[in-house]
Amino acid sequence: MKNFKNTLGLAGVSIIALGTAFGPSSAFAATVFEIAFNQPETHPQYKAMERFGEALAERTNGEYTVQIFPNELLGAQKETVEMAQTGTIAMSLASASLLESWNPDFVVFNLPYVFDSIEHQKAVVNNPEIVGDLYNSVADQGIVVVAAFTAGSRNVYLKDHPVHTPEDLAGQKIRVMQSQTNIDMMNMMGGNGIAMGQGEVYTAIQTGVLDGGENNEVTYWSLKHLEVAPYFSYTQHLMIPDYLVMNIDYFEDMPDDVKQIFIEELQKAADYEFEVFAEDAAKSRALAEEAGAQFNEVDLQPFRDAVRPLTEQKLNSDVTKKIYDQMHAQGE
Ligand code: GCU
Repeated sequence: MKNFKNTLGLAGVSIIALGTAFGPSSAFAATVFEIAFNQPETHPQYKAMERFGEALAERTNGEYTVQIFPNELLGAQKETVEMAQTGTIAMSLASASLLESWNPDFVVFNLPYVFDSIEHQKAVVNNPEIVGDLYNSVADQGIVVVAAFTAGSRNVYLKDHPVHTPEDLAGQKIRVMQSQTNIDMMNMMGGNGIAMGQGEVYTAIQTGVLDGGENNEVTYWSLKHLEVAPYFSYTQHLMIPDYLVMNIDYFEDMPDDVKQIFIEELQKAADYEFEVFAEDAAKSRALAEEAGAQFNEVDLQPFRDAVRPLTEQKLNSDVTKKIYDQMHAQGE
């Protein structure tokens, strides 16, 4: 039996005795990595992580597996990244924009119109030559980014009317993710950006605290935001990846052979998720339309012009400038 670290008592990794399955003399312990997720089990990222867990268990003979907690069961993303940081859980799936609170250089993928397409995003966000240093830059704070998934593109949706131009956003209180960059972006787009966790958005729109939100079609449908904000306008302003953020000790404590399997299977899971996301987004749109939501295309140029100063302001470190240049070389 391979050595395993007795992490019993440490939250985040559960040790389960499997003595009965293998007979009393060959009892061993399995490591279960707990993953916090803020969306339902139907989400492509949930399915990708589930596949990852199955493959990890299979290739480590059941010694390592994952348990996913969906629907913000463990809290909103910002809190669950903090839980991964302290080791209360092993991992959290969180929007890249939140990582700016740990290292401002994470802004680089959180800028409007920064990717040309999902294919461009795919070629960049899991390419270790481009992102390796950035993803490891928070190790001294206790976390590391172990994989990036796509979350499609983000678009504005409102309670009362569609958006065609920045003027249509005047006076509209729009929920954005918890990053100053996202607040500034929405203000430049013509609206009034209000930061909050995702779980509060539905009620906030319903009660008039907000006039709308911005997200991809999958989240718009699965969280039923169409019921309170039926006008979905393709502003396509952001294409922010989601990161699987892991407690550094849990990552480092895996024996090398397990770490290798872990990384290989995560990469496969990310590839799978990139493959299925667009299909899921199209299905979500169709279901939302059937339920009465209205989708409209938008002339992007006025929005691109409005947010251009944000990119100039935020690309202010050598690290972000280098990544930005590399990713554009990749897009050509
Ligand atoms: C998307 C993204 C999530 C994020 C959410 C949000 O759904 O995939 O990671 O939490 O948007 O708006 O908060």
